[in-house]
Amino acid sequence: MKKLSLFCVLFAGMTILYSCAQNKKDTAVNEKTVFGKLPDGREVYQYTLTNKSGATVKVINFGAIVTSLTVLDRKGKLEDVVTGYDSLQGYMDGSSYFGAIVGRYGNRIGKGQFTLEGKNYQVTVNDGVNHLHGGKIGFSKELWTANTVQDSAGPSLQLTYISKDGEEGYPGKVTLSVTYTLTDKNELRIAYKGTTDKTTILNPTHHSYFNLSGSFNNTILDHLLTIEADSITPVDKGLITTGKYLDVTKTPMDFRTPTSIGARINDKFEQLAFGKGYDHNWVLKNYSKGKLRKAAEVYEQKSGRLMTVYTDQPGLQFYSGNFLDGTAKGKGVSYQLRTGLCLEAQCYPDSPNKPEFPSVTLKPGEVYQQTTIYQFTTK
Ligand code: GLA
Repeated sequence: MKKLSLFCVLFAGMTILYSCAQNKKDTAVNEKTVFGKLPDGREVYQYTLTNKSGATVKVINFGAIVTSLTVLDRKGKLEDVVTGYDSLQGYMDGSSYFGAIVGRYGNRIGKGQFTLEGKNYQVTVNDGVNHLHGGKIGFSKELWTANTVQDSAGPSLQLTYISKDGEEGYPGKVTLSVTYTLTDKNELRIAYKGTTDKTTILNPTHHSYFNLSGSFNNTILDHLLTIEADSITPVDKGLITTGKYLDVTKTPMDFRTPTSIGARINDKFEQLAFGKGYDHNWVLKNYSKGKLRKAAEVYEQKSGRLMTVYTDQPGLQFYSGNFLDGTAKGKGVSYQLRTGLCLEAQCYPDSPNKPEFPSVTLKPGEVYQQTTIYQFTTK
């Protein structure tokens, strides 16, 4: 009898312990720590979102930057799949836009000039004679305000930046909110919402460099890429779109079936020469404003990690890390050529000067919206 009751007590105890562990697993964790201090004394915080499977994303409110993203491999091992620096100084000095939200205009505007409602504007020129990713400072080097938000899909963080009228030469005061959610389906969901008080242009994007292998000592050349697009918007030497479309058929730009990034990257092809590799905008199929659809897939065979990108944007910039040259350091490595790849959902580059491209104009009373999802599974 004594033995039986001891067994019952033990059994009950173990059941309680087990259910506590289960409960803990079911609770999304949101942690906030100090990441660093800006020269003007303002503190920068790092937020860690952890979902039910233990995947994590770390985000700082400087540049709304994703500093780390750990996801499972085929064997259940969590590893970081995005490049990053070790300190705030790295992000302040860096020129690669690691993990950031870039804007007001992601990608390039020829000579930094455009016309809106009959008025000419000159925005900062910071890429040769052209404008790139919002200018000298841009949204990626500003301090945002952060708030944790409730979302049944998983832990969520909202960041907001208010860009002044005239900042980097852009008209109108723009308020942009970006919400990162690490869903329990292992998706990093990025939802954007923007408004303005004067007619302006808005085309923000996310600039994480992914490497699914689990080690930044590996390049991304053996990653298999699929892009849901029949054409690209070809560019000139300065990487400004020509306004034409180029059919990808029988070219190294054809990623309609899974193809390793390295297979054709050194082919003699003018567009690859201009980009020093892949640095182009793919015209995604089935664009319909506000409609989310599959845009791309990246598969790394050894780890089994598969990343699927969904977006409601018309275009996707695929950049194969051609400017990485070992200068940027973090996470125990110097990031060498092509050790990370970006898939930036956006409107087509230089669209303010290409009336035939989808428009990026935002007027008072309108709401800019974008949703892009990076989903992680294994196979
Ligand atoms: C984008 C551009 C590239 C490069 C990187 C940052 O992807 O298209 O040309 O500027 O950002 O280095």
